[in-house]
Amino acid sequence: MKKDIERVLISEEELESKVAEMGQKISHDFEGKDPIFVGVLKGCFIFMADLMRHVDINCSMDFMAVSSYSGTRSTGAVKINKDLSEDIEGRHVIIVEDILDSGVTLNYLKNYLEGRNPASISIATLMDKPSRRKAPVYADYFCFEVPDAFVVGYGLDYNERYRNLPYIGVLKPEIYS
Ligand code: IMP
Ligand code: MG
Repeated sequence: MKKDIERVLISEEELESKVAEMGQKISHDFEGKDPIFVGVLKGCFIFMADLMRHVDINCSMDFMAVSSYSGTRSTGAVKINKDLSEDIEGRHVIIVEDILDSGVTLNYLKNYLEGRNPASISIATLMDKPSRRKAPVYADYFCFEVPDAFVVGYGLDYNERYRNLPYIGVLKPEIYS
């Protein structure tokens, strides 16, 4: 597995400190607001687990699973594989995502959740790749701005592999071919 990684982009130590910082910032901003964190599976799972341990205010959590409809990228249609199990009406929603790339997924998800009348919707993403943005969606919270490279680890995959790497790495180009 490690032999497929060209270089470590974000080390375990850097992840730990930036994620802690985000947790503290969100705790400060949402004090007394009882937010609901909505994790986008599967990529969010390690980031969200670490983030939540640095959130020290009352809150709840839920998860969604989504995938892009193949062949309909231009419409930005996203398939909901697992919907929320909690009611978000009147709640402050914080979407927790692994990486904001084209923004198509989060743009769709944000509009979809708006339809359920939450009090607010914020986006907390581990990484932001602003150079690839197609949809008008911005992160309220992000830990790292990353270049246009395909990254894996700490929850992120390539063909379902590498999610278990404890750091964020750049895959060797030959893995794609
Ligand atoms: P978007 O709709 O283009 O913003 O895509 C977001 C989703 O694509 C993320 O939640 C990831 O699951 C996936 N993704 C985008 N870039 C990467 C990457 O560099 N590595 C792994 N997954 C990625
Ligand atoms: Mg994802």
